[in-house]
Amino acid sequence: MSNNTVWHNTHVVKEQRAKLKNQKPCILWFTGLSGSGKSTLANALEAKLFELGFHTYLLDGDNVRHGLNVDLGFDDNARVENIRRVGEVAKLFVDSGTIIITAFISPFISDRAQVRSLVKEDEFIEIFVDTPLEVCESRDPKGLYKKARAGEIKNFTGIDSPYEKPLKSELHIVNDKTELNENIDKITDYLKTNGYID
Ligand code: PPS
Repeated sequence: MSNNTVWHNTHVVKEQRAKLKNQKPCILWFTGLSGSGKSTLANALEAKLFELGFHTYLLDGDNVRHGLNVDLGFDDNARVENIRRVGEVAKLFVDSGTIIITAFISPFISDRAQVRSLVKEDEFIEIFVDTPLEVCESRDPKGLYKKARAGEIKNFTGIDSPYEKPLKSELHIVNDKTELNENIDKITDYLKTNGYID
């Protein structure tokens, strides 16, 4: 906590920024194993919302680790710090009136709860991309599971580092059989039904 600093309220507030785009800002927080399909879903969702005329931004684990979080690895403490920073950034996007989509493994329940606590109750929507480990491993799009099994990568989620499944998430996507479009429709329907978009 920094000392001798004072919070400044801004003249323009979140609700005014959001009104420009006729949307209710929120964090759409994808969580799931590596290779579960988080990035694919998040990208397709952003494309759909963009096409519908909404203002979005997408933060993806791999990309954020090239810049803001380039100093972080994959031990438990580094993952905690990764999600803490991303949570703070996501909160800023909500304040900007944006629908912010995030795709991070975010393996720990407590870290996801911490991000949830940063915003209003209805501003955090957790989307569990529930793809079985065997399926993720058989896809292995980046060859990382193979390396992890060979001991070339340590602390790999699902292999020698834990993934704590959400006990209750707003949306549960079982991503080994369903079609991409079907899943995107499920998410956009949720956003419409709950008044985030019209
Ligand atoms: S975390 O757990 O939320 O901090 O991870 P995240 O920032 O989402 O980064 C996950 C991506 O990093 C690559 N990668 C690893 N993942 C898991 N464990 C280990 N040890 C690891 N090393 C590198 C991998 O490409 C992940 O991307 P996705 O899209 O999840 O496959």
